[in-house]
Amino acid sequence: MNESLKQYLDSEKQKSVEELINFLKIPSISADSKYQSEVRRGAQWLMDKLTSLELDTVDLYETPGHPIVFAEKIISPDYPTVLFYGHYDVQPPDPLNLWNTEPFNPTINKTDIHPDGAIFARGACDDKGQLYMQVKAVEALLKTDNLKCNIKFIYEGEEEIGSDHLDQFCMAHQDLLKSDVILICDTSILSNDTPTITTGLRGLSYVEVEVTGPNKDLHSGVYGGAVANPINILSKMIASMHDDKGKVTIPGFYDDVEVVSEQERALIQEAPFNLEEYKKEIGIPDILGEEGYSTFERTSIRPTLDVNGIWGGYIGEGAKTVLPAKAFAKISMRLVPFQDPDTITKLFVDYFTSIAPSSVSVEVRPHHGGRPAVTPIDSAAYRAAEAAMTESFGKRPLPMRSGGSIPIVAMFKEVLGTDSILMGFGLDSDSIHSPNEHFGLFNFYIGIETITSFLMKLANK
Ligand code: BES
Ligand code: MN
Ligand code: MN
Repeated sequence: MNESLKQYLDSEKQKSVEELINFLKIPSISADSKYQSEVRRGAQWLMDKLTSLELDTVDLYETPGHPIVFAEKIISPDYPTVLFYGHYDVQPPDPLNLWNTEPFNPTINKTDIHPDGAIFARGACDDKGQLYMQVKAVEALLKTDNLKCNIKFIYEGEEEIGSDHLDQFCMAHQDLLKSDVILICDTSILSNDTPTITTGLRGLSYVEVEVTGPNKDLHSGVYGGAVANPINILSKMIASMHDDKGKVTIPGFYDDVEVVSEQERALIQEAPFNLEEYKKEIGIPDILGEEGYSTFERTSIRPTLDVNGIWGGYIGEGAKTVLPAKAFAKISMRLVPFQDPDTITKLFVDYFTSIAPSSVSVEVRPHHGGRPAVTPIDSAAYRAAEAAMTESFGKRPLPMRSGGSIPIVAMFKEVLGTDSILMGFGLDSDSIHSPNEHFGLFNFYIGIETITSFLMKLANK
């Protein structure tokens, strides 16, 4: 990267953070309909920022849900075209009482892992902070007259609720979204000393289950022992969905799972991992998972089943003796190549229904899903990303699959035929979706620098 560009980026640091802070103040919570106008405000904020860059077009596309922001600048047919994707919606901040600062009043604090400071706010890392690195990188290249790529931006407001309308948008606007590569900054690196490029994401199948017993809540003394308790039953059904080796017991669940080569498994083992630090960081006495696989394997190349929430009966203060009429749970299954979310959901419904005793009735309601994705490491774009990271971190990044899901990646490949580069800069310890989400200033700055240099390298081929 040339000196003048480096100087420009340095001079913009303060302003970049201030702008991001303003963006983070908008509670663009897509899951909660009360925040619908705030989500729109998030889109509008981005529109205003992109408009200030003097691109060719900046448009807001309405959907039956939250709006999609699209912008582009086409300079020359001889240049490579990059499509930036990100999401301006955020997860709900709950539980609020566990935040040390207000989730929508961004605050900079130092931590052990982020000695230079980190911005604490919902969306700081997932994904407003990371999306904004892309905007700032493009701005830097434009302002210094270094942009030698055609660029397109697509920013959605529904990633955290399943990207339903982006799927449709993608199919309806294939020409508009045409590009040579898609750059997504919505994943993590292993640590600030160990840069990684994400080369795989898990898919998702998500269901809500309802177990119904008696037609009303009953006295647990008068009826208890003679009438099925839906919570007891649901607990037992859930418990039976893993065997004692940590395998999911749904028949056919593993049928389509990719058999990863010994060579790739050996590579996964090379990534540095400290079990003691891992346990300490999240405060667990021990790890638990599928037998025969390492922690990184369990969270990348293996599928899982997890209860995300469970409720029913009396949960107020004190004791109420009640035999509840209903029990509920939300259950997610993370999928790996070549599992299909619809197939897995069907296997779940069939199995869950089949193991329900005749004393209760059950209902399964499927939610959003998404396909797993793997991205190539032998492309010009991957090499540009690798070179850019090597330059900024002073270390060559390792390719690594991640456990999270970004369903649109598989959709982009399927509908547009375009591969994505998953070059994120967060840390797994940044508490995305949790209280006290944050994004390191070091990560934010190095992200802007790396994306800038990625675009330069891509242009030179
Ligand atoms: N950015 C995350 C996904 C992610 C996080 C990938 C960390 C790799 C590392 C994304 O916003 C997300 O949370 N996705 C959801 C899926 C969606 C369908 C709700 C997820 O993974 O739970
Ligand atoms: Mn995200
Ligand atoms: Mn997320």
